[in-house]
Amino acid sequence: MILREEQLPDFVKEMVERIGMEAQRLSFFTRSLLSFARSDADVDTEADVNLVLQEVMDFLRYEARKDSIMVIEEKDFDLPPIAADANKLKQVFINLIMNAFQAMEDGGTLLLKTYAADGPFVAVELADTGKGIPVGAIDHIFEPFFTTKAANEGTGLGLYITRHIIERLGGKIQVRSVVNEGTTFTLLFPL
Ligand SMILES: Nc1ncnc2c1ncn2[C@@H]1O[C@H](COP(=O)(O)OP(=O)(O)O)[C@@H](O)[C@H]1O
Ligand SMILES: [Mg+2]
Repeated sequence: MILREEQLPDFVKEMVERIGMEAQRLSFFTRSLLSFARSDADVDTEADVNLVLQEVMDFLRYEARKDSIMVIEEKDFDLPPIAADANKLKQVFINLIMNAFQAMEDGGTLLLKTYAADGPFVAVELADTGKGIPVGAIDHIFEPFFTTKAANEGTGLGLYITRHIIERLGGKIQVRSVVNEGTTFTLLFPL
C-alpha cells in the first residue's frame, strides 16, 4: 500500500521533515570539510591581497547591503604580492567577512585595511562594529566545532580552517574584541 503525503500520520511527517533538515545540515558540513581538504592543493604561488579582497567583496557586496552594513576599504596599493594560493586566501577572507556580517545583524561598519608591517609582513585588518566576543569564548574560537550559532548557520569550522591556512603560509592571526563594540582580526603574512 502506498500512502500519499497528506495521509501520513503527523509524527511521520515530522520525522521526514527532521531527516530532511539533518541531511541539509550534513551536506553543508561535508562541503566545508571537502573544501578544507582540497585547500591543501596550492595552485597559485603568488597572490595580491588587495585583489583577492576586491574579488571577495564583489561577491559579498549584496550580502552587506541586505544587512545594511557599510564596508570601508583602506588599502595600500604598493604592497608586494605574498606567497599564497589566491583561492585559499579567498576562503580566509570569506570566512572572516561572513563572521563579521553575522555579528552585525542590526547593521554596522566593516573596515578592511591592508598595510605593510614590520617583519616584514603584509597585514590585513578586518574590524567590525558587531556584538563582540565574550571573554569566556575568545580562547575557544579557533577550536574545531566551537560555534555560538544555530546548526544551520555555523559549523564552528571557519576560524579553525582559517588559522590552519594562515599558519601553513607562515603567517599569524590575532584577534581583539570588546563585547557590544566590535571585533578586529589582524592577519600577518610573511613576505
Ligand atoms: N567577527 C566576529 N564577531 C563576533 N563573534 C565572532 C566573530 N568571528 C567569530 N566569532 C565567534 O567565533 C565563533 C567561531 O567562528 P567560526 O569558526 O567561523 O564558526 P561559525 O561561524 O561557524 O560559528 C562564532 O560562532 C562566534 O561566536
Ligand atoms: Mg564562521
